[in-house]
Amino acid sequence: MAAETQKQETPSHPSGDKRFTLIDRAIKKHQSNGDALIEILHVAQGIFGYLEQDLLIYVARALKVPFSRVYGVATFYHFFRLKPQGEHSLVLCTGTACYVKGSSEVQKAVEHKCGCKLGETTADGKISLMSARCIGSCGLAPVAILDNNVEGKMTTAELLERIDQWQNTSDEAPA
Ligand code: FES
Repeated sequence: MAAETQKQETPSHPSGDKRFTLIDRAIKKHQSNGDALIEILHVAQGIFGYLEQDLLIYVARALKVPFSRVYGVATFYHFFRLKPQGEHSLVLCTGTACYVKGSSEVQKAVEHKCGCKLGETTADGKISLMSARCIGSCGLAPVAILDNNVEGKMTTAELLERIDQWQNTSDEAPA
């Protein structure tokens, strides 16, 4: 397979959060078509783990549809989440390129380690596991989004190590 070069794109969100670049790509793929709203919200939730208000505003602007419509859709369908679940989020891409590069093996190991499936949160509320169909970084497959960071060429060992860190980190604020 020919090596794929990853072009550095400038995130279009003022925060500089690179995840918005992935949303931009999905919107571009749908040619900024407002009819693709549900699909774009799926992509956005896959990338961010949930649909916070800032994200809904961003999608509304990008698709040039009223915020009220975006909010209405996000709250109507039960599969959209407006709040984070676990303390940490691990989104595993299960798209074709990532599958070919072994994401299903990674998935099994991660689910076993966490004791829950993709789409669920660990019993202690620490980690939410989610899946995304393709986040547009196929050249970096297998790809995962760990909290806010898109990480490419992830190995099972690296992911399990990160999960270990999350599980062993107390979220208590220092006195
Ligand atoms: S299939 Fe995983 S990033 Fe495209």
